[in-house]
Amino acid sequence: MHVMNKKALLTAAFASLSTLAVASPVDDVLIIDEEIEMTTRVESVEGHPIPEVISGWHYRTPETRALEADSFANPGMLGVETGESIWHTVEGTAGKSCASCHNDATVSMKGVGANYPKWDEKNQRPKNIEAQINHCRVENMGAEPYAFDKGGQKPLTAYIKHQSLGMPVEIDLEEGDMQAWWEKGKETYYLRTGQLNLSCASCHEKNHGNYIRADHLSQGNVNGFPTYRLKQNKLISLHNRFRGCIRDTRAEYPAAFSDVLMGLEVYTTWRGTGLAVETPAVRQ
Ligand code: HEC
Ligand code: HEC
Repeated sequence: MHVMNKKALLTAAFASLSTLAVASPVDDVLIIDEEIEMTTRVESVEGHPIPEVISGWHYRTPETRALEADSFANPGMLGVETGESIWHTVEGTAGKSCASCHNDATVSMKGVGANYPKWDEKNQRPKNIEAQINHCRVENMGAEPYAFDKGGQKPLTAYIKHQSLGMPVEIDLEEGDMQAWWEKGKETYYLRTGQLNLSCASCHEKNHGNYIRADHLSQGNVNGFPTYRLKQNKLISLHNRFRGCIRDTRAEYPAAFSDVLMGLEVYTTWRGTGLAVETPAVRQ
C-alpha cells in the first residue's frame, strides 16, 4: 500500500472528538448498588506511559453505565449466578465440588481475582484464573479441564473475580519470571501489524477518547473481565477480547492462553493497576 493511501485510511479511521463533540471520557462516578464506590480513575504506576488510568466504563453511554451500577440490572450477573451453582456442583472421580475444599467463595475467594495473573512455579509461566480453575479440576477433582470458553470456564471465572468487586487490581511482578513475561507482553502491545500497521497502543494509548468508525475507544483496560457485551449478549472472556482486537488488524491471531496472550494479560493487567475490579463489567 502507498504511504499516502495508508495515511488517508488512518485519518478516515480515527475521527477526533472535536468533530463529534462528545465530552470524553465522561466525568461520572461509579457506585454499585448505591454502596460500593469504585475506583475508575487512578494515577498510574511508575513507568506507565499515560498519567491517569481510566476504566472503560467512562467511555460508554449513560444507559450502559447505568446497567453496571445496578447489579439487578447488570445482565452479566446471571453468569455470576451460574458460576455460583457450578462452584457447588460435584464433578470428577474424587467426588468433590469447588466448595468441598474452598467452602464459601465470598470468604475464601475475596481478593483473589484482584491479584491474578500469578506466577505458576510448576509450569514456569504465569497462570490466570482460568488456568487455576483447570489446575484444581484436574489435580484436585479428577475432572476434565475446560477447553477455552467452554463449560463452566467463563461463569466460574466471573464468579471468582466478582468476589473482588471494588478491590484494586495489583499483580506481583517480583514472583518468578513475571518481569520477563511483562516485557514480552509490552513488546506485543507496541507491535504494529496488519494492513493499517496498528498496535494496541495506536488505538488504546494514542487514540483513547477518539472514535474509530462507530466505536468510542477506551484505554483497553482489563479490570472488568469477563465482561458482558451487549452487542453479543453474553459474557466475553479476556482472551476472546484480545483475539477480537488482534483479528481486526490482521488475519492471524494467537491461540487463547498461548505465551503471546499470557504475556499480554500480564502487561495489560499491570497497566490497570489500582483500578477497581468491575467483573462483570457491562460494555457495548
Ligand atoms: C481437593 C481440594 C480442592 C478442590 C476440590 C478445589 N480446589 Fe482450588 N485449591 C486447592 C488447593 C490446595 C489450592 C492451593 C494450591 C494450589 O494451587 O493447588 C487451591 C487453589 C485455588 C485457587 C487459587 C487461590 C489463590 O489464593 O490464589 C483458586 C482460584 C481455586 N483453587 C479455585 C477452585 C475452583 C474454581 C474449584 C472447582 C472447580 C476448586 N478450586 C476445587 C484445593 C482444591
Ligand atoms: C483498531 C483499533 C484497535 C486495536 C489496534 C486494538 N483494539 Fe482493543 N478495542 C478496540 C475497540 C473499538 C474496543 C471497544 C471499545 C473500547 O473499549 O475501546 C476495544 C476494546 C478492548 C478491550 C476492552 C476494554 C474494556 O473496558 O472492556 C481490551 C481489554 C482491549 N481492547 C485490548 C486490546 C489489546 C491488548 C490490543 C492489542 C493486541 C488491542 N486492544 C488492539 C479497538 C482496538
